[in-house]
Amino acid sequence: MNNRRPLLAGNWKMHTTVMDACQLAAEIGKCSAAAKDRDVLLAPPYTVLSEVAHVLRDSNVLIASQNVCWEKQGAFTGEISPTMVTSAGGSAAIIGHSERRQIFHEDAEIINMRVHGALKFGLIAIFCVGETLEEREGDKTFEVLEGQLKEGLAGVSQENMEKVVVAYEPVWAIGTGKTATKEQAQEAHAFIRKLLAEMFEKSIADSVRILYGGSVKPDNVDDLMAQPDIDGALVGGAALDAESFCRIINFS
Ligand code: 13P
Repeated sequence: MNNRRPLLAGNWKMHTTVMDACQLAAEIGKCSAAAKDRDVLLAPPYTVLSEVAHVLRDSNVLIASQNVCWEKQGAFTGEISPTMVTSAGGSAAIIGHSERRQIFHEDAEIINMRVHGALKFGLIAIFCVGETLEEREGDKTFEVLEGQLKEGLAGVSQENMEKVVVAYEPVWAIGTGKTATKEQAQEAHAFIRKLLAEMFEKSIADSVRILYGGSVKPDNVDDLMAQPDIDGALVGGAALDAESFCRIINFS
């Protein structure tokens, strides 16, 4: 047993209109009310951040943006600033998602700047790492994870690590229906925790939450969450369906 509070996070990616989002948020808010021993978080698109935060204003559901800039304001067309996120009711930001890395070519340096930006303005940074299928098959998983963690968290203080959540999302498992086995996920999470102990202090590594993401569904969440180093889930597709996500929140 450890004392890390489970975190069930839904990443809505580029889905939902204003109406869909408000309805989905309200349903998730209802089923989260009973989840006292765990945290629930939603990352809606920017266009509905404040609406979703408003719908969930009396709930225990946390709101995150799907990315964040390092500057408070300025000429950064297309970006969202940490203070925009907080003013919309958000308290966290997903950073370094593989879709940002792969499709939009965000590199390690940009991702590290985003992490620092989020932390500077008091947001929780949900920092994503994960290997591609080619990297896994080439036996490079640990090497890739180590590089991503060392580069992405470079310069983060021990103190600020309290506001960091790591999400392990193997790219080959995202949106493919091909979940990592519980053994594969646990092995990667244990590796990440060991590395965090080397990079920071053991006590920090022991308290950082590490989420698993990649085809988490109602029928595999219980097995994943039973693993000693899996502290939560970052859910894509199944977080767009209230019934599925509520089942995931209520994992046993
Ligand atoms: P899926 O749950 O759809 O595989 O997406 C995972 C993900 O990328 C969450 O950030």
